[in-house]
Amino acid sequence: MTVHIGAKPGEIAEIVLMPGDPMRAKWAAETFLKDATCVNEVRGMLGFTGTWNGSRVTIQGSGMGMPSLSIYANELMRDYGAKTLIRIGSAGAMQQEVAIRDLVIAMTASTISTPSCGFFKELNYAPCADWKLLHSAWAAAKKTDAKVHVGGIYSSDVFYDERPDLNEQMQRHGVLAVEMEAAELYTVAARYGCRALAVLTISDHLLTGEALPSDERERSFGEMVEIALAAATA
Ligand code: ADE
Repeated sequence: MTVHIGAKPGEIAEIVLMPGDPMRAKWAAETFLKDATCVNEVRGMLGFTGTWNGSRVTIQGSGMGMPSLSIYANELMRDYGAKTLIRIGSAGAMQQEVAIRDLVIAMTASTISTPSCGFFKELNYAPCADWKLLHSAWAAAKKTDAKVHVGGIYSSDVFYDERPDLNEQMQRHGVLAVEMEAAELYTVAARYGCRALAVLTISDHLLTGEALPSDERERSFGEMVEIALAAATA
């Protein structure tokens, strides 16, 4: 047991999918994993372990934002031996050619800061995805009907952002979408010599103001889970 995860030693798989929402973790485990059992209930941040096509997989909620994700990512890698971690979640589109329902696979994640920034002092560390995972996720996504984009995203600390100038600069520099967790996941994974990736569905659009209806969020979430499972076990 760790401070935030109640699983016993051995109850967490080497492959971990991390949705922000713990109820999504429950839904994904019940929908996609065989013999899924609940391995964490601490603070309601549910985690489940089961198998997918014969591979052991844990699906553990991360909570929203980098400080929350950082707690779970650190404990999963440092204390439970997780080796491959894929964030599955939603993001806001920042480019015209990225539409609602499209998938974004995050090659890099820019930030103003992450909980890990203290390690780097004046260095602007560039968090990046694991290449093989990214390639496998792209190949899996290409087999679906979804439009897939691969490129840089922005991991923000602020959902209700009052700094439109910053979004403009991100857009100008080709950043595809904004979310709130990937940069810290990539950074912590690098620190522990682990593999990380974020597979995201566009749920809202910063340029058009559109938003995905809630019933469609579940369907697109399922597609992401399947892509992440295929990539992690490839
Ligand atoms: N996740 C989904 N949409 C987002 C947005 N617009 N900003 C930050 N995180 C998000």
